[in-house]
Amino acid sequence: MSNPSLLILPGDGIGPEVMAEVRRVIDWFGDKRGLKFDVSEDLVGGCAYDAHGTPLTDETMAKAQEVDAVLLGAVGGPKYDKLDFSVKPERGLLRLRKEMDLYANLRPAQCFDALADFSSLKKDVVAGLDIMIIRELTSGVYFGEPRGIIKEGNERVGINTQRYTESEIARVARSAFEMARKRNNKVCSMEKANVMESGILWRDVVQEIHDAEYPDVELSHMYADAGAMQLTRWPKQFDVIVTDNLFGDLLSDLAAMLTGSLGMLPSASLGAPMANGRPKALYEPVHGSAPDIAGQGKANPIACILSFAMALRYSFDKGDEATRLEQAIEAVLAKGYRTADLLGEEGKQPVSTSEMGTAILEALDESL
Ligand code: IPM
Ligand code: MG
Repeated sequence: MSNPSLLILPGDGIGPEVMAEVRRVIDWFGDKRGLKFDVSEDLVGGCAYDAHGTPLTDETMAKAQEVDAVLLGAVGGPKYDKLDFSVKPERGLLRLRKEMDLYANLRPAQCFDALADFSSLKKDVVAGLDIMIIRELTSGVYFGEPRGIIKEGNERVGINTQRYTESEIARVARSAFEMARKRNNKVCSMEKANVMESGILWRDVVQEIHDAEYPDVELSHMYADAGAMQLTRWPKQFDVIVTDNLFGDLLSDLAAMLTGSLGMLPSASLGAPMANGRPKALYEPVHGSAPDIAGQGKANPIACILSFAMALRYSFDKGDEATRLEQAIEAVLAKGYRTADLLGEEGKQPVSTSEMGTAILEALDESL
């Protein structure tokens, strides 16, 4: 049997430097655990625009459709701010999500013990936190039509459309209930049913799927604004949160910061199973391209490495190896290794991106 295939798209900003550490981790699993991958690498985002005039070529798109999993770094940067909307770096990422139909975006927010002090919230609010946000990723206001900037009389009007079909809501609701069954069996669905029809439908469909297929899972509903408030007040009340594309974007950044740094949080974007039974999948850190620190060896590679751990778990059925990697990261943090994003005012010296990578490889060696 041939090796499973990975397409690596490092992208822009800190993407390439954090992905370089992921490649060392991938090699480690090949050498030490016999988990070999056929790895290919390509361009996405601003770097693809620079090379080809488009943030994602058709060839790269086709490759992404064929491989077993895609790993992405980050896209975007100020250099590309003035580009036409249709070729902005972000369009490359959004095209991947849409054409691969990656409707369920899993964004875990877990607080590592060693970092509980580092959160901007009190330690007892975040210590032991482990929640999973499931964000709908291929519909809603990100993709709804009509959209655009039109002229109305003397002024311009910006238009975006929040649109959800029943089936789009139903399938992401199922992902959330399935996830809850593997965790603490609780789902909280967030929308704005008080002001949006799409929110009313969202709430109805989530409830219907629950009653018909997952009555064993505890389900609650919350308006998304109240949800944001509750997430900062007492985040440990949540297990799985399911929400739409835009609310999920906001709430997952909020949840990420509860854990201390956006540099820690991975994500998996999953679609329907392929012929080989694996889901269509793209793994990426929640953080962006951080152009202000790019190329300086300051970036935290952990979110991107944890995204590879999610790939091991969700694409390759290697939950044990994923746990090994997560524990290695925990061990490294417990030993006090910190990249710059994880340092407070204490005046300690941070480790560089590659020093963090090396420490993680050493901890992996120790796990054998
Ligand atoms: C994210 C990002 C993206 C989004 C951007 C880069 C298009 O913020 O993955 O959360 O808005 O979905
Ligand atoms: Mg975001």
